[in-house]
Amino acid sequence: MEKEQLIEKIKKLKQEKNALIVAHYYVDDDIQDLADYIGDSYYLSKVCMMRPEELIIFCGVRFMGESAKILNPEKTVIMAEELADCPMAHMAEVARIREVRSQYEDVAVVCYINSTTEIKALADVVVTSANAYTIVSKLPQKNIFFVPDEHLGRYISKKLPDKNFIFNDGFCHVHTSITQEAVLEAKRVRPEAEILVHPECKTEIVDMADYVGSTSGILKYATESDKKEFIICTEMGILHQLKLANPNKKFYSVGHRQFCPNMKRISIEDVYEALATERNPIHLEGNLIERAKSALENMHALAN
Ligand code: 13P
Ligand code: SF4
Repeated sequence: MEKEQLIEKIKKLKQEKNALIVAHYYVDDDIQDLADYIGDSYYLSKVCMMRPEELIIFCGVRFMGESAKILNPEKTVIMAEELADCPMAHMAEVARIREVRSQYEDVAVVCYINSTTEIKALADVVVTSANAYTIVSKLPQKNIFFVPDEHLGRYISKKLPDKNFIFNDGFCHVHTSITQEAVLEAKRVRPEAEILVHPECKTEIVDMADYVGSTSGILKYATESDKKEFIICTEMGILHQLKLANPNKKFYSVGHRQFCPNMKRISIEDVYEALATERNPIHLEGNLIERAKSALENMHALAN
C-alpha cells in the first residue's frame, strides 16, 4: 500500500477507535508527523496521564511504553514496534542496588527513566534528563546511587557537590560514540555554530557545550536563541522538529553515527498494524506496577 494511503487509514482508524498516538523525537520523521503528541521522555509520560484516550499506541522504545502503562494501568498501551528496546534500560542490576542500600543508611536510589520496570520498582524516584537536577537537588539523602546511566549521573553530580554520588556503568552507545575530535571538526567547519549536547554524552563532550539539556530542552534553547547555526550532539531524529520550528536556522548533526537503531525500527506499517490489531498490549504484574508507580509518581511530584 502507498505510504499516503496507509497514513489516511491510520488517521481514520485512530478516530474510530478514539486512540492516541504518541512518539519520541528520535523516531522517523513520517511517524513524528502523524503522531498526536511528540516529545521527550518526561513530556510523553505526562501526556499519557493527561489525555482521556483509553488506547495508546506508543512510538518509542519499551521503557517509554512501560512508563505510560505504569502510570495508567487501566489504559491499553501498545508498542508500535514490540522489539524497539533501549539497551541502556538493562544496564542496572537488582543485586547491586540491594548491595548499595545495605552499605549506606542515608541513600536514595535515583533511577533514570531509561530503565526496566523491575529497576524502577526498587528506586526511590525516577528522573529524566529534563528534571534530574531539580529532583536530586530536592532529595534529603546525602548519598545518591544513580542508575543506569553513568554520564547523566556525572553531569548532575557536578552541579550538586554536597551530595555523594555512587555511579553505575550504564551508557548509551548513540551518545558515548560522540568524540571530542568530531565536535572540534564540526566547530572548525561551522565556527559560528553553537554546540548543543544531551547529558547522556561523556563529560568531555558536555564540557564543550554551549547548552546541555534533554531533547525538548535542546529544541527550546535553539528556538529561543538569536544564533543561526547549531551543532547537535544527540540522536539525529531531533533535527526534524528543530528544522520545522526554525526554518531560518541551520542544524548539523555532529556525526553520522548518532542514529538509534531501536527508535528507527518503527515503521508506518507497524503503527497501522498495532492500531488495527491491538496485538500484545503491554502487560505488567500488578505488584510490580504498584512499586514502580510510586517512584514515577515521586518524579511527577518533585519535578514541579
Ligand atoms: P529525552 O528524555 O531527553 O528525550 O531522552 C531520551 C533518550 O532516550 C535519550 O537517548
Ligand atoms: Fe536508548 Fe540511546 Fe536509543 Fe536513547 S538513543 S533510546 S538511550 S539507545
